[in-house]
Amino acid sequence: MRSIVLPAPSENHLARASLCDLSHTPADHPMSIDYALHHRDIPPELIAEVASLSEHVFETSTIDHAWRLTHMPDVSLFCARQAGELIGFKAGYAIAERKYYSWLGAVHPQWRRQGVASRLADMQHQWLVERGFAVVETSSRHENSAMARINLHSGFVTVGTKLEPHGLQVLWAKTLA
Ligand SMILES: CC(C)(COP(=O)(O)OP(=O)(O)OC[C@H]1O[C@@H](n2cnc3c(N)ncnc32)[C@H](O)[C@@H]1OP(=O)(O)O)[C@@H](O)C(=O)NCCC(=O)NCCS
Repeated sequence: MRSIVLPAPSENHLARASLCDLSHTPADHPMSIDYALHHRDIPPELIAEVASLSEHVFETSTIDHAWRLTHMPDVSLFCARQAGELIGFKAGYAIAERKYYSWLGAVHPQWRRQGVASRLADMQHQWLVERGFAVVETSSRHENSAMARINLHSGFVTVGTKLEPHGLQVLWAKTLA
């Protein structure tokens, strides 16, 4: 299991990109936000934390967090914490040798619109570049304007749509430089 709180800016590119304002201190939230990467062998207690936040946000208990986070290849989990509490995450896994799927992310409602999801996405993409992935794919509900903004800002383009039981799902892809 590799689980790191991101190190000092000089230590790698990911840290340089993410630590420039790693301690994010919104005016109405006096505490800083800490970001960390967990790569493969995600501990069960962390999976439980992610599932708890995810189930709260998505209002469902049907998402297979434990299975995907333990079975899919090259799993990564980027976490945002405030005072030790998980307030946001972004999870993904490889779907081909050089293609990654950014699967699931969420930010606690109290911490939204403060750049947390954007930061997690930036960190994930930079890490993927460093690991030699060529493409990252994701999908989001058609009506999810926040994810559409994040995806467009970070360089994704729409590559299709898929009709799911809940409605239209937009498929996105980004070529990693
Ligand atoms: C989508 C989500 C992760 C965004 O988290 P966040 O930390 O609030 O996002 P950010 O603060 O980084 O905002 C990113 C952009 O989205 C915009 N945005 C955020 N919430 C928005 C909303 N409800 N409606 C419209 N735009 C929104 C922000 O203004 C920002 O755009 P900008 O850069 O042009 O100003 C969060 O709203 C969430 O957890 N939603 C429920 C779960 C979900 O939809 N997950 C994604 C599908 S896997």
